[in-house]
Amino acid sequence: MKTVGTLFGIGVGPGDPELLTLKAVRKINQADVIFTAASTKNAYSLAVEIARPHIAEQATIRSLSFTMSKDKVKAREAWDSNARTIAEVLEQGKNAAFLTLGDPMTYSTYGYVLKSLTSVMPHAVIETIPGITSFHAAAARINRTLVEGEESLLISSGAYGGEPLRKSMDGVENVVLLKAYKNTVDINTALKGAGLFENGVAISKCGREGEEIIDNLGDLETRDPNYWTLILAGK
Ligand SMILES: C[S@@+](CC[C@H](N)C(=O)[O-])C[C@H]1O[C@@H](n2cnc3c(N)ncnc32)[C@H](O)[C@@H]1O
Repeated sequence: MKTVGTLFGIGVGPGDPELLTLKAVRKINQADVIFTAASTKNAYSLAVEIARPHIAEQATIRSLSFTMSKDKVKAREAWDSNARTIAEVLEQGKNAAFLTLGDPMTYSTYGYVLKSLTSVMPHAVIETIPGITSFHAAAARINRTLVEGEESLLISSGAYGGEPLRKSMDGVENVVLLKAYKNTVDINTALKGAGLFENGVAISKCGREGEEIIDNLGDLETRDPNYWTLILAGK
C-alpha cells in the first residue's frame, strides 16, 4: 500500500525564536515541504524566519494565499485549492509542515487548512503541534497573571470593536483581546462599561523588534496601533 506523508500543523510561537517548542523544532526539521500563509501582515516571512534555523537544507518553502473574501463560496474554493496543493505533496509520501504564528488552534489560518484538507483528503494523516500563544507570551512578558482561582477569562477579537465584548461580558473577570489594532475607541468604551479599562494593558509585537508595552489603553486611541497588538484586561 502506498504510504502518504504526514501534515504537521506547527505553532512557532509569537516571535521570540526561543519560544519554539522542542517538538516543533523536531517536526520542522522532518518536513520535506514547508507551507505557510502568504499575508499582507507579513506573517509569512515571520513564521518562516522563526523556523528558518530548523528547516532542513533540502526542504522547499511554499506560501499559500488565503482569500479572506466575504464571499463564502470564493473563500471556500481558495481554501480547498490550498488543501489540494498540500494533499498532492502528502500523496507523494512527503511530510509537510504548515507553520503558523503563536498557536495553530487560536485564530489561525490553520483552522481552514484542517477543515479543507480533511474534506479533500479524508485519509490525510495530520499532527498538530501546539505553540505558545501571543497572549501567554504577553502575560509572561509583563509578569501578569491571566486568570486565578475560580475566575473566568474571555478570549475574543477586537477586529470589529467592542461589540463581542458587550455581548459576552456578563460575569467575565478577565479578557484577552487579540486584533486590537482598530476601532480602539469602541473597544475602550466596552472595557469601561465592563469595569475592565483601568487595569488594562496593550502589548504590541511582544518578543519582537519594536515591542511596545502600552500601560494606558487610552493611548491606543491616538496611536494607530499596529496589527500585532493585543490587550490584557481584568477587574
Ligand atoms: C490572527 S491572530 C493570531 C493569533 C496566534 N495564532 C496566537 O496564538 O497568538 C493575530 C493577532 O494575534 C496577536 N499577536 C500575534 N503575535 C503577537 C505579538 N508578538 N505581540 C502582540 N500581539 C500578537 C495580535 O493581536 C494579532 O492581531
